[in-house]
Amino acid sequence: MAIRPILLHPDPRLKKRCEPVETIDGDTRILIDDMFETMYDAPGIGLAAPQIGALVRVIVMDCAKGDEEEPAPIAMVNPEVVWESDDLNVHEEGCLSIPEEYNDVERPAQVRVAYLDADGAAREIACDGLLATCVQHEIDHLNGRLFIDYLGPMKRQMITGRMKKRKKERAAAKTGASRPTRA
Ligand code: NI
Repeated sequence: MAIRPILLHPDPRLKKRCEPVETIDGDTRILIDDMFETMYDAPGIGLAAPQIGALVRVIVMDCAKGDEEEPAPIAMVNPEVVWESDDLNVHEEGCLSIPEEYNDVERPAQVRVAYLDADGAAREIACDGLLATCVQHEIDHLNGRLFIDYLGPMKRQMITGRMKKRKKERAAAKTGASRPTRA
């Protein structure tokens, strides 16, 4: 297993529609293992494959609350929302690809999701609460949609501007070029 670098917004790979997984094989399971390790390390409650540069329809989640609950890892291959409630829920969302930014997003309060598990078995689960928010957020990633796409254009531009600056600072810190060499 390996922790993989998480892509940061803005990045064209985060705007792509991802391809379905045709065959669940060893490579798929390695991808899932790496995604769990990367998500827990971050730490986060969900991660989609495109966030580590794999443009395929795979997501992982664990919405268990810290030390209060047992870990509840769920991996989904080719997930699809097959039903959503009329009633909506507002939840403050964040994203590992848009660190330090949090905003309220309104989504259906409950959804049913059909998917394949890591062994290729067809499953369907009912989600509500945090899991409903999380699974919709992650499936959005597979369609090149970020939570900031639900915000107004002004807010979105402000966040994107801050992210560009943060990415520059991180890149500079990595190459040791954070200090100006000329006055
Ligand atoms: Ni996200």
